[in-house]
Formats: sequence, C-alpha cells, structure tokens
Amino acid sequence: KDQYAVYGNPVKHSKSPQIHAAFAEQTGQKLNYRAHKVELERFAEVASQFFSHGGKGLNITAPFKLDAFKFADQLSGRARRAGAVNTLALQEDGSIYGDNTDGVGLVRDIHDNLGWELNGRRILVLGAGGAARGILGPVLKQKPAHVLVANRTVEKAQNLVKLFDAMGDVSGCSYEGLIGTQFDLIINGTSASMTGDLPPLPHHILSNDGCAYDMMYGPKPTPFMRWAAAEAAWAVSDGLGMLVEQAAESFCIWRGVRPDTKPVVELIRQSLS
Ligand code: ATR
Repeated sequence: KDQYAVYGNPVKHSKSPQIHAAFAEQTGQKLNYRAHKVELERFAEVASQFFSHGGKGLNITAPFKLDAFKFADQLSGRARRAGAVNTLALQEDGSIYGDNTDGVGLVRDIHDNLGWELNGRRILVLGAGGAARGILGPVLKQKPAHVLVANRTVEKAQNLVKLFDAMGDVSGCSYEGLIGTQFDLIINGTSASMTGDLPPLPHHILSNDGCAYDMMYGPKPTPFMRWAAAEAAWAVSDGLGMLVEQAAESFCIWRGVRPDTKPVVELIRQSLS
C-alpha cells in the first residue's frame, strides 16, 4: 500500500488519519495514512527518510509548515503566496512538490458547503499570523468588495496585506480601528480560541445578514462563535468543514480522485463530542 502521513508536534489529536481513512474507503483507494510526531529540529531529516523509503505524500501541521515550504523542490503559486506548505507530494521524477490547500479548503467550505457568498462582500479577517496568510490569496480570488485584516499588533497586519496588494482591495488595521465599520463576513484566523480567548471586537460590526466563521473547531462553540451569535449573526460556523476540505484537496493532489466531503464532516463531527 502507498504510504502517507501527517507530520506535526504535537500531532496526537490530529483528525487527518481518520479523515483520509474515510476518503480511501469511500473512493476504493488502497493506502496507509498515519500521524507522526516529529522532533522540533528534525523535520527535513525525517521527511527525507520518509520519501527515500517510498512514502508518497505528507500533510504538514504546526509548527512545520515553513520547514515544509523550504523542503519542497517545487511550489504551487498558492503555497508561495501563503509562505507555507501543508501538502507534500512525491513526483514521477522523484522531486517533491509543495502545495497549500488550507485557503481553498476554507473557500470551499464557506462557498460550496455553507452557501455563503464571498463575491462582492465586505470581509474582515481576524489575525495576521500563518493561518490568516494561508487564506488571503484564495479569499481575494473570490473578488470580495474588500478585505480588512485586523490584528493586535497592527504592523503585522500591514506587512501581511502588502503581500496581497496586487490581488485586490486589502488593508490592515487594529481592533480599535474597527469601530463604526461593518462586514458581511468575519473570519477568525487568530489562535485566540485555542486558549478560550476572544479578540477585542467592538459591537455592531456585523451587517444584518452577516456571517461568522471560526477556523478553529471543537465539541463546543468557540468564544468567537458565541460572540457572533450574541451579535445576532445570520449564520455561524466553526472550521471543521475547512479541515475536511483541505484534506480532500490534498487527497485529490495525491490520488487524482476527489472524495465526497459531506459524510466525512458528519463522521468527524460525531467523534468530537
Ligand atoms: P497561526 O500560524 O496559527 O496564525 P501565529 O502566527 O502565532 O499563529 O499567529 C497567531 C495570531 O493570533 C496572531 O495574529 C495573534 O495576534 P498578534 O500578532 O497580535 O500576536 C493572534 N492572537 C493570538 N491570541 C490572541 C488573542 N487572545 N486576541 C487577539 N489575537 C490573538
């Protein structure tokens, strides 16, 4: 069987093995996929060994997405713009291709699964770290009216948006700078939910039919999702669909077959509680 894995540290709680096993079963593909905890300084060494022993592909999670970016022999345009790689694939000629499927996973979940419009919308992205950078390109490709990136450290937001200047109307600001503005969609790309925190958001920044999406997920709604519900959001979602969609895109890169994500989102949702 062809070998695949997800590399991270920690990686114990990764849902990727379960997701890819479900995809493989559904599409009749014969493969093994496991989670592997890699020592912090050893990414390149362990990944080289994996491919030299016949491994076909890797998913990369925190904190190795930049290491994977450096490791790849070729990069997709979206990986280059994201500055990070979450998918490595062995090529016919033995070289390693690096891609990033996070942003397209988010857009598929928001647009195709949830049916929320991105085109022409006023979008707010919270956070200016790796997660935010990973989604900006694919979001801007949907031609929103504009994208504002808000961050505690405003310089980080301003530096980030410069990288995407040519792709559309995108700017950076502080949380205080949001007062008096309105958005049709707010995407939380901060890591605040992981510690049970909420970015300091002012009231009334969601429009009447405004939606809220947290890239995090868990058995319970995140603080950001609860905030959005209290602000009378039209719809609210966590990021489980994005997780499954980015995995489906990776699966498609490796196997050339696109799995049906809906039953797999339901399967993983059940395993959360
Ligand atoms: P990731 O790769 O997950 O994006 P990161 O690069 O460490 O991780 O970035 C984390 C993001 O979450 C940053 O934008 C950070 O804001 P700062 O750049 O100002 O530090 C944001 N963040 C983390 N905890 C937060 C909190 N409690 N409130 C608001 N923003 C928070």
